[in-house]
Amino acid sequence: MAGLKNDRFLRALLKQPVDVTPVWMMRQAGRYLPEYRATRTKAGSFMDLCKNPELACEVTIQPLERFPLDAAILFSDILTVPDAMGLGLRFAEGEGPIFDRPVRTAADVDKLFVPDPEGELRYVMDAVRTIRRELDGRVPLIGFSGSPWTLATYMVEGGSSKEFAHVKGMLYDQPALMHKLLDVTAQAVTQYLNAQVDAGAQALMIFDTWGGALTPRDYQEFSLRYMAQIIAGLKREADGRKVPVVMFTKGGGLWLEAMADAGADALGLDWTVDIGAARRRVGSKVALQGNMDPCVLYASPERIRTEVKDILAAYGQGSGHVFNLGHGIHQHVNPEHAAAFVEAVHQLSATYHQ
Ligand code: CP3
Repeated sequence: MAGLKNDRFLRALLKQPVDVTPVWMMRQAGRYLPEYRATRTKAGSFMDLCKNPELACEVTIQPLERFPLDAAILFSDILTVPDAMGLGLRFAEGEGPIFDRPVRTAADVDKLFVPDPEGELRYVMDAVRTIRRELDGRVPLIGFSGSPWTLATYMVEGGSSKEFAHVKGMLYDQPALMHKLLDVTAQAVTQYLNAQVDAGAQALMIFDTWGGALTPRDYQEFSLRYMAQIIAGLKREADGRKVPVVMFTKGGGLWLEAMADAGADALGLDWTVDIGAARRRVGSKVALQGNMDPCVLYASPERIRTEVKDILAAYGQGSGHVFNLGHGIHQHVNPEHAAAFVEAVHQLSATYHQ
């Protein structure tokens, strides 16, 4: 396979020197792009798109054709894993994800199994292989998974939730059952991520979207612990290069010190923390990825530039920062504003790498 033409994303995650700060956007392939909406229509539905490696590859590369991004992220979803564990996933138009068979009882947990990444999840591995081939070394490819806790919220609730009544009910009333559910899910995620590395993923990210909904103690016991278990079981090298791991807990800003000890190479930050303060708190242990409020992209290109400038200044001199949004890009953002964002990061960051 051809060598990497642009490796500043991998270098920054490992705190190696870079010319400018690398940048990518969570959910960079998505509904804010008209070409994404066209491909999704062609596929039939969102899940049909995920299950079609050629079309998943097409939408993965779409944002790279528009913007000089420094990384590609596999087009898929975190809910592919519980779907493969037998829960029956569908996306109802305008309603988000729905599982036909949510996990509510001990008998439900007993039925869960660790899916074969090259069996039930082969379509994901085929997508990774196809994307790696098509990227041809342009930029590195990020593989990803949800954290066990975040997956559990969807598995137990049966979909998206605001109050987490069922999943927190289980956590508080039946902690042993919750641990059993999280343990089998952690095993599934470990195998899934390792298979993505075997298929060609060059960096990995764990999305813990709902870790911030837990108390500090429960975050450590029910979310962080399982992410650390997964990271300890990951292949950390491929093609003679390190495969860096980014751990992102949305709402985890209060717990950065504990997160920095979980074994990840980098922490993803949402917009509720000052990235300079975060850097001082984690010291040299990890790199940082983030953390512009995605809503800044609704403002003018001039305002976007000012925000980028302030975040770069807050992080300060040297490598170890991957610029990103603090969460996924919203569907109503003007793609030209995303272009202004990416350009601003590259133009304004060179001075921090001299
Ligand atoms: O970043 C990328 O471009 C890669 C693709 C990606 C998607 N989902 C595509 C997607 C990634 C990395 C995810 C992760 C994901 N999925 C998370 C963690 C990150 C986060 O946003 O917090 C979560 C919680 C999910 C679960 C999920 N997927 C929900 C709740 C929804 C419905 C809500 C919504 O935004 O519509 C999805 C659907 C989804 N996943 C879409 C995309 C592009 C939109 C589906 C569509 O095209 O209609």
